[in-house]
Amino acid sequence: MKLTTLATLFAFSMTSLTATAQIATPQHLSDAHTMVRVNASQRFLLLPVEEKEENAHVDIVCNNQVVKGFNLRLAVDKVDYLVPLDLSKFDKNLLLDITFHGDRHKTGSVKDFSCWKEMKLSSTFDTTNRERFRPAYHHTPAWGWMNDPNGMFYKDGVWHLYYQFNPYGSQWENMTWGHSTSTDLVHWQMQDEAIAPDALGSIFSGSAVVDKQNTAGFGKDAIIAMYTSAGQHQTQSIAYSTDNGKTFTKYAGNPVITYAAPDFRDPKVIWHEGVQKWIVVLAVGQEVQFYSSKNLKDWTYESSFGKEYGNHDGVWECPDLLKMDNNKWVLLLNINPGGPFGGSATQYFTGKFDGHKFVCDSKPSMTKWMDYGKDHYATVTFSNAPDGRLVALAWMSNWQYANQVPTKQFRSANSVPRDLKLFEDAGETYLASVPSPEMLKVRGKQLKKPSSTCEIVIDMKGSSSIELKNAKGEKVVMKYDESARTFKMDRKESGDCSFSEQFAAETVAPTLGSIRQLRIFIDKCSVEAFDSEGKMVMTNLVFPSEPYNQLKVKGGKAKIYEIK
Ligand code: FRU
Repeated sequence: MKLTTLATLFAFSMTSLTATAQIATPQHLSDAHTMVRVNASQRFLLLPVEEKEENAHVDIVCNNQVVKGFNLRLAVDKVDYLVPLDLSKFDKNLLLDITFHGDRHKTGSVKDFSCWKEMKLSSTFDTTNRERFRPAYHHTPAWGWMNDPNGMFYKDGVWHLYYQFNPYGSQWENMTWGHSTSTDLVHWQMQDEAIAPDALGSIFSGSAVVDKQNTAGFGKDAIIAMYTSAGQHQTQSIAYSTDNGKTFTKYAGNPVITYAAPDFRDPKVIWHEGVQKWIVVLAVGQEVQFYSSKNLKDWTYESSFGKEYGNHDGVWECPDLLKMDNNKWVLLLNINPGGPFGGSATQYFTGKFDGHKFVCDSKPSMTKWMDYGKDHYATVTFSNAPDGRLVALAWMSNWQYANQVPTKQFRSANSVPRDLKLFEDAGETYLASVPSPEMLKVRGKQLKKPSSTCEIVIDMKGSSSIELKNAKGEKVVMKYDESARTFKMDRKESGDCSFSEQFAAETVAPTLGSIRQLRIFIDKCSVEAFDSEGKMVMTNLVFPSEPYNQLKVKGGKAKIYEIK
């Protein structure tokens, strides 16, 4: 995300008009319970977080009613960062009812916790970038935790990206749909959060469609989001927006689909021309289920797919169903763990879907991976993309270490956008991921050396080796073996690997043909290598202590471009 856009999220200038005020004296009622009365004289209440602490629970009470509840790691010893509670959404007078868990409160020192000194009212929340690993041309939230992309759709020249978001800390918690928009798929503007937790649960992953024919009765061209309500059970709910995805109203009849299974989530809705119905595909344990509907509210079970097909070493999550050329279909399925190099990855199945049943055209034992890096997960496509395009974004991380990567103000980015199409190799159909054409538009001038944000384009002359290195000797080594038809990327000495034993790795991909040109996108903490025809893709995070500024290529001719 371009950082110049972040500050515009809040109306006030960061420097001149910032005003802060102390909160009223907190009332410590026991070693686990504090009440804080807040007079919302300013827009934000800044809440101090210490990541190593356990979660406290905060209920916001207005007029004797709990109007919101969330968890956050309130600071005990030191403040790692502040998160904003936007008070404009509540009554002027509110009470924070805070319950502490964990061990520290038992020492009876709640009143000495560092959070009380730094909990302040403020007219602004400072989103100025404080992270050297914040990508420049990949989407990130201005603050807080992000995982899966959700509800992506295109309408009236704007790409909408929602995402699993924790507004109150940079670790997974309080799942809410955050929202960002873009007109070029590369530069994003963070918007207000779109869908917040409610009595049915927190808001897990899902999708959104443009209801062009008003099938649901919420209005022509209303945006209908379908998501998992993660409460005592995982159930499916809908919400609609009549202001182009800015704000959503939850449907009063939620949940709209229930099923007695512990893992039942991540609805992806598509319109099926053949049967003239909406189809939703849902991940259920290690299978998917398909349901159909005329109005997005009443759903009929159609069929299941997945038993004995593909990889089953983890839970299936975040499916997507794509109609390709020649009436071929692709079922995308993210799996965690079970990825080819441990943890999270995206597998897919090719075949046919007639509006009722998915029939796979490969042997059940065949597993096809969409990307052979360690950091490509929860991949789904935009709904209603122009010109029939299939544009996908992945979450560029892995559940093995996503909560520990060395950033604080925010955690996680999305991949560069990829346009999807099919190709054949040795009688099998595969999915190609090509960097979206928008990535060519942001190509800038040619550079002599790699920088922390650049694209390297290599015309390959057969087998080759590529080394990216910095003055500290930290390096990423890539090797293409034309006869073995493999591409490898080694990040074992790429920089900081200390935060997780599962981070240091070499990843290997089959190239499914030869690579004539390689495109490598580098952005502060990521390396995405594409066969420019899309037959091989590898996405890996890296955390070098300084940017890689040396490039050695054997067996190819490289050009380096800045990214605008
Ligand atoms: C995948 C996932 C989804 C779920 C969401 C919760 O990363 O586990 O299955 O809806 O994350 O944040």
